[in-house]
Amino acid sequence: MNWTQLIENNLRDFMDQASTLRQMVGKAEPGTATQIITLTSGKGGVGKSTLSVNLGLALAAAGKKVLLFDADLGLANVNVLLGVVPKFNLYHVIKGHKELEDIIIRTPEGFDIIAGASGYSVLANLPEKERSKLVAAFERLTGYDIMLIDTGAGVSANVVDFTLPADKVVVITTPEPTAITDAYGIIKSIVLVAPDKNIKLLVNRATSSLEGRKVAERVINISSQFLNVRVENLGFIYDDDNVAKSVRRQKPFYQLFPHSKASACLDIVAARLLEQELPLRRDSGIGAFFRKIFSPVM
Ligand SMILES: Nc1ncnc2c1ncn2[C@@H]1O[C@H](COP(=O)(O)OP(=O)(O)OP(=O)(O)O)[C@@H](O)[C@H]1O
Ligand SMILES: [Mg+2]
Repeated sequence: MNWTQLIENNLRDFMDQASTLRQMVGKAEPGTATQIITLTSGKGGVGKSTLSVNLGLALAAAGKKVLLFDADLGLANVNVLLGVVPKFNLYHVIKGHKELEDIIIRTPEGFDIIAGASGYSVLANLPEKERSKLVAAFERLTGYDIMLIDTGAGVSANVVDFTLPADKVVVITTPEPTAITDAYGIIKSIVLVAPDKNIKLLVNRATSSLEGRKVAERVINISSQFLNVRVENLGFIYDDDNVAKSVRRQKPFYQLFPHSKASACLDIVAARLLEQELPLRRDSGIGAFFRKIFSPVM
């Protein structure tokens, strides 16, 4: 097989998987589509899983029905962050050992989780019959407003795959120079296969709003200059000790520390994702304070 064929085959696999995922969740309820939001990053450890779980909670608190799809099965982070142990994942559904409904984890936090089966190899190479079975199973899952997909890090095919069916891709970086460079790298990989993708940048672990803005501007400017793509600034999340504390306690920081700086930032991010006015949920105390400080920033 020559290189051109190899690339073409890969692209076909990309498209196949994108359409499988798209079809899987495209029909949440008759007439309403589930919005797919994929969280990804170039560098590992920047906070994707932590923010997926907490964002799931924030969106659920805003009245949305949320399904969190943990597509980073290798590390199975989401369940650890919530202190739940999934016995089964999508692999068992594909193999016919379980129904999709049986593998859904319903959290006390008010959103549901599905543990994926290591994305690319399993989903992309599914024979047509199993693919349509899976799509049909997802179609029977009704009523989700939003599906969040937590991916692994990096530019590998399976990570990029999960960005393809998304309505919005949130690329997460920290202010670390290596994370910034890798954020640019993942944006480039996405743009190569999906030039019109709605990509948003989220800066995690910023030590000030100025730092958050500067990091975002850097990534946005180089993406515009070298890739000719418009990346939107979704905002930033403060570096906050409460995040690590909550990870240790296997509970979302948004729940344990609702008035923390990180939670206040997350409220803004969730509202922006929903393209809504800022939520009024925390209109007093430190949350309101930070919201007032940060909202005009971005
Ligand atoms: N805003 C924050 N403030 C302080 N610490 C944070 C913040 N966000 C994340 N962290 C820390 O970073 C650690 C790594 O986060 P997480 O596991 O969510 O990253 P990830 O991007 O999902 O990693 P991987 O690429 O391995 O999947 C967390 O355990 C937490 O302690
Ligand atoms: Mg993770």
